[in-house]
Amino acid sequence: MSVLQTLVVLSFLFTSSYGLVQDFCVGELSLPDTPAGYACKKESTVTVDDFTFSGLAAMGNTSNIIKAAVTPAFAAQFPGINGLGVSMARLDLAVGGVVPLHTHPAGSEILIVVQGTICAGFISGGGNKVYIKNLKKGDIMAFPQGLLHFQLNAGGIPALAFVSFSSQSPGLQITDFALFANDFPTELVAATTFLDAATIKKLKGVLGGTG
Ligand SMILES: *[C@@H]1O[C@H](CO)[C@@H](O)[C@H](O)[C@H]1NC(C)=O
Repeated sequence: MSVLQTLVVLSFLFTSSYGLVQDFCVGELSLPDTPAGYACKKESTVTVDDFTFSGLAAMGNTSNIIKAAVTPAFAAQFPGINGLGVSMARLDLAVGGVVPLHTHPAGSEILIVVQGTICAGFISGGGNKVYIKNLKKGDIMAFPQGLLHFQLNAGGIPALAFVSFSSQSPGLQITDFALFANDFPTELVAATTFLDAATIKKLKGVLGGTG
């Protein structure tokens, strides 16, 4: 065999053996989550039910300040996706509902509208350019990893969307809650956001902040 042929055969062996070591790693949820995901459940105890999840069938409870509900099917709820780098969620938006500006630090997102009309957008990380569109039933939109984005109901009926992520645990950090729904001291919020203290106190009153 020539050197080239040997290399081709070797590279094929390496690529084809990669991933065959273990077909899956269903999460053992009784053990802690780690940056690499959950430890694997013993394969002899894995069943098809580990790879299915019915939690997205039911509408989320939108009786809250944002009139919206995000129901996750992340590794913590759906252990079969542990190690697979994918996940989903259900998004219910009542009339007037909004998922305020937020990021998923660990994954990109694709959203598909199933009912109603959703105005969605994101802000680029480099130039702070804004990309916004009204999405109708059947439309999909991509949200690049880590970028601030939002979804709001732009119609007169409840809206429903499903989202998928390129991470088993994409995370969810909502900017307003991070700033105003905890004990972040008002003077530091003012100093770091350029908002005036009266506005911050008002927002904390609405969102439940204490500091
Ligand atoms: C929805 O959430 C509200 C506010 O927490 C609560 O009062 C209500 O009982 C919940 N509804 C259902 C159906 O769980």
